[in-house]
Amino acid sequence: MSHKHPRILLISSSGQVGWELQRTLAPLGEVVATGRNRGAKRVVDLASPDTLVQAFNEVRPALVVNAAAYTAVDRAESEGDVAEAVNAVAPGIIGELATRWGAAVIHYSTDYVFDGALDRPYREDDKTGPVGLYGKTKLQGEQALLDSAADALIFRTAWVYGQHGDNFFKTMRRLFAERDELRVVDDQIGSPTWSRMIAEATAQVVSQLKVEPAQFGEKRGIYHLTAAGQTSWFGFAQAILENSESDCCLLPIPSTDYPTPAARPAWSVLDNRKLSDSFGLALPDWRCSLLQCMAEA
Ligand SMILES: NC(=O)c1ccc[n+]([C@@H]2O[C@H](COP(=O)([O-])OP(=O)(O)OC[C@H]3O[C@@H](n4cnc5c(N)ncnc54)[C@H](OP(=O)(O)O)[C@@H]3O)[C@@H](O)[C@H]2O)c1
Repeated sequence: MSHKHPRILLISSSGQVGWELQRTLAPLGEVVATGRNRGAKRVVDLASPDTLVQAFNEVRPALVVNAAAYTAVDRAESEGDVAEAVNAVAPGIIGELATRWGAAVIHYSTDYVFDGALDRPYREDDKTGPVGLYGKTKLQGEQALLDSAADALIFRTAWVYGQHGDNFFKTMRRLFAERDELRVVDDQIGSPTWSRMIAEATAQVVSQLKVEPAQFGEKRGIYHLTAAGQTSWFGFAQAILENSESDCCLLPIPSTDYPTPAARPAWSVLDNRKLSDSFGLALPDWRCSLLQCMAEA
């Protein structure tokens, strides 16, 4: 059913992508944003399915955009239960509730569903094989959502950064001011993607599909959505440094010199062709977005 001013339930507006979505979705409907803490006007805690049921009952959305996730890649290794509840189980519940209420769904996933052993950018139907628990729970969440009958689109994105929230970009800027020398991993390759670009592309898709669940149904499935181009964490850091006023010296190191609790794929570049074929959308090169993002500081 088409609503003149449809309600859009935005699950969590405090994260990097959720923050930007508040603004980009606003012209498309009445955005009802949730937070997980009691201070929030409307509470949704993905680890407490009751709060989801209540939000659907009260808001009756035409579209649910789930920008919430357990994103602490390393901590997930020791907090498997929470990561599983939020990333693996909750998307299935969202799918069931959306089906019951006739709402469309947009959900986000990650390049970390892949093992990183391919020699070309990953397509949506390439074999998955997460190397860490975060990626494993996100993959389970994709499957749980698709196992429901919901009219759902899943955008797999990667290496998200922006001025709002915690991310590599902000960590680097802080460390450039504090340190004379910094060692950064140069053997993991991906596509740094600005949170604002993800939110703008999402809004374009929602606009094209007119917030109509049936139209979402026709496009149901997984889409890769990252900036164009690729680099290493070192290359990303170097580009940030080039545009900062800092004399910090950057040194490339292999991942073996920077052990972390969670393993990460060595190569997780995604092929975005399906998104551009389906919606005529292509995100700009990561360097171009980085400059725009930095110009806002
Ligand atoms: N960050 C990346 O590099 C990256 C890479 C690939 C894919 N993705 C995916 O992109 C999407 C958006 O990520 P992001 O970078 O915007 O994440 P983020 O900045 O880490 O924010 C995570 C959001 O999820 C919320 N959240 C966490 N646990 C919750 C719970 N139990 N109930 C309700 N809300 C909860 C957080 O709320 P609080 O503020 O209350 O903690 C926050 O709003 C996610 O699906 C993520 O998996 C991210």
